[in-house]
Amino acid sequence: MIPFKRHIQDIKPYEPGKPIKELQREYGMRSVIKLASNENPLGPSGKAIRAMRKTIREVHLYPEGNCYYLLTRLAKELDLDPAQIIFGNGSNEIIELLARGFLSEGDEVISSEMTFLVYPILSQVCGAKFKAVPMTRDYRYDLDGILRAITPKTRIIFIANPNNPTGTYVTAREVEDFLAKVPENIVVCFDEAYVDFVDAEDFPKMLAYVKAGRANVVVLRTFSKAYGLAGLRIGYGAASKEMAAYLHKVRQPFNVNAVAQAAAAAALDDSFFLWRTKWLVVRGRKFFYRKLKPLGLEYLPSQANFILVHMKTDGQEVYQELLRQGMIVRPMSAYKLGEWIRITIGRHSQNTELIRLLKAYLNKNISCKASRVSAA
Ligand SMILES: Cc1ncc(COP(=O)(O)O)c(C=O)c1O
Repeated sequence: MIPFKRHIQDIKPYEPGKPIKELQREYGMRSVIKLASNENPLGPSGKAIRAMRKTIREVHLYPEGNCYYLLTRLAKELDLDPAQIIFGNGSNEIIELLARGFLSEGDEVISSEMTFLVYPILSQVCGAKFKAVPMTRDYRYDLDGILRAITPKTRIIFIANPNNPTGTYVTAREVEDFLAKVPENIVVCFDEAYVDFVDAEDFPKMLAYVKAGRANVVVLRTFSKAYGLAGLRIGYGAASKEMAAYLHKVRQPFNVNAVAQAAAAAALDDSFFLWRTKWLVVRGRKFFYRKLKPLGLEYLPSQANFILVHMKTDGQEVYQELLRQGMIVRPMSAYKLGEWIRITIGRHSQNTELIRLLKAYLNKNISCKASRVSAA
């Protein structure tokens, strides 16, 4: 008998958004729009592309194990000591390092329901129990609920801020109150994958806690979203020197490839690209707010590069219908949001096309319902 572990066999694997090429193959389509995985619709920055081209000639060599050049560049950007930063193969890897570093069988991890599914998966891999605290009525993390869920077995609390898939956030004041009450032996991980899209003034400045020496706070960020480098897999954690040194012991020696390191460093220098990306997203969010309301569709105001939309019908069915039209969005049944779909903000032409398809879908469904009623 192969000694499969029960808690690993019970894991429901993460289902990523459907790749464009897969849909093209399946349906024989040439033109496909993907607004499903919160990627950057502008592609990578020109500076990053040039850096990648240059580095490709050197891929016969192992990368720098400590990401020296990128580390120095980012530490300057964030005004942190380089010893406070650890890079990962996507910020997902830092979540994994935290899980492997701090969890043993029987430990507990707390987060929210309707949040990033990698937290429960990686907790379960380590045999820990994942507690999903219900959200507030306005689909935000319930920090008081999380405090109430703490037990002596709690090791890590994950807070996605802004949250995926709701796009909602917890405020600076709420975080301050929360951190004042969390025992210092619990690691609190603020996952800021979408921080570059935030425009709310009361959004917390988590790096200030790290700078102030808050030993149990870890802040995660990524180059996958605003920096347009999702395919390279690079993200990082910022924490106390002691925490970063501990996590370095858990990682593999060459966990971040050379092309990713070079591209990320170049992307940090492309502030115009970052500005354009944020402008596109902020404008796109407003466009969707304006267009969804007249269609009778509710949505959650978002601080991220996506919007969660309540279709008031089976979201999987809407997803399938949009797929047939060459549009990939994200159905939300895995998050127990069966009537919702998540839409990534795209370029204006892509956003307009999605609104056109949603309108057509709703019209078709309304007329189907009307003809069923008149037949009855
Ligand atoms: C909340 C959240 N954290 C982390 C990640 C992972 O990002 P990365 O590509 O850096 O692994 C994602 C990606 O979708 C996310 O939504």
